[in-house]
Amino acid sequence: MPLDPSELLVLSHRQIVSALASLAGISKKSSGGSLCDRATFCNALHFLRIVAPEHSAAEEEVVFSRLRSAISREQTDLRRLLDDLEEEHGCTDRVHREVDQLGESWLAAGGLSPAETTRLIDLLDGLAQLYRRHIELEETAIFPLLAGALTAAGVEELGRELARRPLVSGSRREDRRPKV
Ligand SMILES: [Fe+2]
Ligand SMILES: [Fe+2]
Repeated sequence: MPLDPSELLVLSHRQIVSALASLAGISKKSSGGSLCDRATFCNALHFLRIVAPEHSAAEEEVVFSRLRSAISREQTDLRRLLDDLEEEHGCTDRVHREVDQLGESWLAAGGLSPAETTRLIDLLDGLAQLYRRHIELEETAIFPLLAGALTAAGVEELGRELARRPLVSGSRREDRRPKV
């Protein structure tokens, strides 16, 4: 049975937010010293390295592109919103890369300097804030439009395409990624 594209993307959102919260919580508690929960930190870091950029890419290449093709030229507000969301993807992808570098440094060295720790926590808090608004927009202003803009077959095909990509951990993709 094909997955609903919105359901899959919303699940991916929840897992990204949860992984970010895990990283932020452990980073704050560990204060640059020995990680209080190294396994969870490591899993969350690896999950985000794979899923965060893949989520942005899947939305742009599969979801937003279909929606752009399906809506009229006059829907300029919606087109502008899609452009804005894509721009935010570029921003989050850059921040994720820096988070990944700092997280890997922490794992490798067993600690981070106070400046690096502050930087990591600031980046994680900034990402959480940015995602809150970004996700709300996608889930309220973009995903609900798919069923009306595409045919039923088009929605099913979209679900199949998304299901082939590493967007979630857990039972659906347990062969591909560590659990968050
Ligand atoms: Fe997005
Ligand atoms: Fe998204």
